[in-house]
Amino acid sequence: MSLSKKSLGPRRQPASSVVAGILIWCSPPFPAGVALLQGKKVDLKLVEKEDAPLLQEWLNDPAFFGEFEPILQITKAEVEKSAERPERPRVFFIQKKDGTRVGLIEVRDAHPGRSDSGSEVGYAILPGERRKGYCSEAAALAVDFTFLTTPVVRVQADTNVRNVGSQKVLERVGFKREGTLRKAHFARGEWMDLYLYSILREEWKWPKVLKG
Ligand SMILES: CC(C)(COP(=O)(O)OP(=O)(O)OC[C@H]1O[C@@H](n2cnc3c(N)ncnc32)[C@H](O)[C@@H]1OP(=O)(O)O)[C@@H](O)C(=O)NCCC(=O)NCCS
Repeated sequence: MSLSKKSLGPRRQPASSVVAGILIWCSPPFPAGVALLQGKKVDLKLVEKEDAPLLQEWLNDPAFFGEFEPILQITKAEVEKSAERPERPRVFFIQKKDGTRVGLIEVRDAHPGRSDSGSEVGYAILPGERRKGYCSEAAALAVDFTFLTTPVVRVQADTNVRNVGSQKVLERVGFKREGTLRKAHFARGEWMDLYLYSILREEWKWPKVLKG
């Protein structure tokens, strides 16, 4: 469930709404420079077209994705093209309160094109910024945002069975493990099993971080 090349593919855009008290524009397209989801340790800031060089640098860095994700090769043109697409997935920088960017988190359709599709999250934190609670808060923000602004009934994530850090992030946010997807992922020269996790709207109940 990394921020993978499928992140750069097409997706449907859900209905728009605004959550009081925070600056969220979730109707397509997002106005440039205004969308910010505010947490306690970190904020989520939409990736904009001008961020393409940094995005490309991070996406092509094997260290950014850790040891369980595929190595990507994404061109500048591919990144720029995806940023221009009004229906692009929502990709956010995870940034500290002083604006320093420490990672990426994405919310996308779990099954693009299906009317019953839920949402799916993927994330990565810069190696030097891990284990500081940033991803847990970012994932909680992304789940709050998704349930507050779309009608989906589930948000899911899959993670390599060996990726303990990612599993802990999901469990901290309230995701439940649903099962194992066997040999579902080819990365670093081998087929890997994934755990599928989800959180349902009725389990989420109320924002953990965002103030509605
Ligand atoms: C997985 C990843 C996103 C976790 O981000 P993070 O910001 O370090 O996570 P947090 O600081 O919020 O940690 C959440 C919990 O996981 C634990 N944790 C984090 N990394 C861990 C690791 N490598 N091993 C064991 N536990 C880990 C933290 O100690 C914390 O535990 P706690 O709830 O008991 O306090 C980060 O390691 C990363 O970017 N990895 C590479 C990319 C990746 O694997 N993305 C996910 C693909 S599924």
